[in-house]
Amino acid sequence: MSQPLFSFKFAFFFSLSFAASYTATSTVTFTPPYSFRKLKLRSSASPPESAVPKASVADLLALLGPPQQASAVNTQEACQLRSCLKFLVPFSPSSQAPNRRSLSSKLSNRRSVSEENELIWWPPAPVMELARLAVDSGGDPSSIHWTLDPTVIPVPDIEGSKEDRCELTRTPYGRVFINEEINSYLEFLFEMIVARGPSVGLNTSLSRFDFFHGHVFLARESGRLGILFHAKEYPAYDKEIFPYNMGYCQIGSNVSYDDSMNLRNILWLAPLASNSTKEWLAPGVLVVLDAHPTGVIYRDLIPEYVHIARTLYEDDFGQVAFDVNYLNVGGKTPKYQIFIC
Ligand SMILES: *[C@@H]1O[C@H](CO)[C@@H](O)[C@H](O)[C@H]1NC(C)=O
Ligand SMILES: *[C@@H]1O[C@H](CO)[C@@H](O)[C@H](O)[C@H]1NC(C)=O
Ligand SMILES: *[C@@H]1O[C@H](CO)[C@@H](O)[C@H](O)[C@H]1NC(C)=O
Repeated sequence: MSQPLFSFKFAFFFSLSFAASYTATSTVTFTPPYSFRKLKLRSSASPPESAVPKASVADLLALLGPPQQASAVNTQEACQLRSCLKFLVPFSPSSQAPNRRSLSSKLSNRRSVSEENELIWWPPAPVMELARLAVDSGGDPSSIHWTLDPTVIPVPDIEGSKEDRCELTRTPYGRVFINEEINSYLEFLFEMIVARGPSVGLNTSLSRFDFFHGHVFLARESGRLGILFHAKEYPAYDKEIFPYNMGYCQIGSNVSYDDSMNLRNILWLAPLASNSTKEWLAPGVLVVLDAHPTGVIYRDLIPEYVHIARTLYEDDFGQVAFDVNYLNVGGKTPKYQIFIC
């Protein structure tokens, strides 16, 4: 170890332990020699970040919940997590009073930016009902399973997938919600992500190599309904920059592995229903989770073995109910269709 580095570390350790013991003793009564020894051990053994708790998905969800939940997260950790949030719709924890909108009545017209925002904060009634069902069941996926139409629809060839022997979906058939407005809302979410992604640096397209699916979950503690979307699903194999074989579905990919991979996890949260009253505690959220390698999402939330793919796992968010796929069933002219699998 070179001399300059050592002295820098020493100086840093000294100022850190001083600051930390000062704040520690102001809230908790340690005997000074004990707390000092403890701090000394910690700060010399590991980087200064060790003072901040390891971030978790639960903390991320709390930050996107009602203000009282958000304020329970460690301040520095919250600050690190917030720096990785790229909102596609302004985050508005105080946005009040569901303003009941119907999606279908708006489908024929072009929606304004503020109408689109409003549809994320306070979705149409059937989506709100689904969100409340999720909370009322205590986060039990079977509570929303019965809202699907039992009819199964075979997944057809998608952009030449059959020829490559690629199976894009978990099952070879899919379903849809009984309520048409919920299906339209899912389409709306896919389209919104594609349309607004570029504003935060996420250029994605609806294709079988890139953006075609999300995982519907019920958050563990709150029962909050959400979808973890994954874009950039099959980056092209490249000897230098992405030397990974991902199987049949990667064949022919036109998705290049670049910095936009950092933005492939996109989170939608439904408004949060109160579990004791008819009230709503928080509006809906649509946010890109930035997993750049120097950020806390990459460091603490993405398992090390998938660091390269920047994949956040839906099981960490809650109980997974099903996947939602939005697939191009058209030929020359694209035609997209929802398949719940
Ligand atoms: C995304 O696409 C837009 C327009 O197609 C382009 O101007 C922009 O540079 C692209 N951004 C990235 C990060 O690739
Ligand atoms: C209601 O939600 C709160 C906060 O998430 C939780 O602490 C409480 O246990 C829940 N109550 C019931 C009856 O599920
Ligand atoms: C890849 O192909 C799809 C479908 O043809 C197209 O929509 C998309 O723009 C292409 N992406 C790139 C990065 O060229």
